Amino acid sequence: MDVIREIAELKQRRASWARPVGLVPTMGYLHRGHIELARRARNESATVVASIFVNPTQFGPSEDFGRYPRAFERDLGLLRDAGVDVVFAPPPEEMYPSGFSTWVDVEGVTAPLEGASRPGHFRGVATVCNKLFNIVDPDLAFFGQKDAQQVAVIRRMVRDLDMNLEIVVVPTVREPDGLAMSSRNSYLSAEERAAAPVLHRALMAAMDMRRDGCRDAAAVVRRMQDIITAEPLARLDYAAVVDPVSFKALESLESPGLAVLAVRFGTTRLIDNLLLEA
Ligand code: PAJ
Repeated sequence: MDVIREIAELKQRRASWARPVGLVPTMGYLHRGHIELARRARNESATVVASIFVNPTQFGPSEDFGRYPRAFERDLGLLRDAGVDVVFAPPPEEMYPSGFSTWVDVEGVTAPLEGASRPGHFRGVATVCNKLFNIVDPDLAFFGQKDAQQVAVIRRMVRDLDMNLEIVVVPTVREPDGLAMSSRNSYLSAEERAAAPVLHRALMAAMDMRRDGCRDAAAVVRRMQDIITAEPLARLDYAAVVDPVSFKALESLESPGLAVLAVRFGTTRLIDNLLLEA
């Protein structure tokens, strides 16, 4: 497995890679969710590239960029075991040299929910993913359903800017108690960790309502709100049922709706989602 830190070196090497090339963008501190992305990439690509880059531009000024967990050597071992061929791990100044001043602003789908709670977040995500796509030139890029709005933003960008790659979405990997795997789970105290599966319980309740024939999105949202607010350690940021492509709020569940949640436990903010189908 090659570990490359410079853009110029990666661009030089990529001419010799067998195609299709699969890219797995990550911010490191890897867990089974990330590894599942790498495993899918291994199945579907001749060359697998994973990036490890804690992208400063997608963190707000009061967010956790400084304390975002890092475990570089352990991450390399996990990626090697998953059969990754190349790791791209640039320092921040390689990606954002002085004078950097070009941004990718996806409109519409970035406005609500994560976009409203985290101003500038998706501009940072879209910009760094566009840069990674230009640097690696992948045929396929793998993203997790766990960050459903991120998927919608990247798909919109790829379509609008005629990018020559396919986005592959991998189902959310969960702990046995339903908690979606996340690097940020490591911030939770033991009590908060015990309370955190309330997100999954609320989403499952939404799914049950849909399966029992409920088509009233507002009623489903109220049920999720009730379940979250009944948990003393949880503070609801948002609960919604949205169109999975536009992320506009739905009134009726005649078409498939995505139930989405953001919940705080102390200073830790967790998100999760579930597609509501018949
Ligand atoms: P990060 O949070 O490290 O996640 C990297 C990828 O792993 C994302 O596509 C995310 O959706 C996926 N992932 C995270 N938890 C998952 C889980 N439990 N199951 C399945 N997939 C999961 O998302 C980012 O980094 C950044 O925004 C990035 C795209 C790398 C741009 O900086």
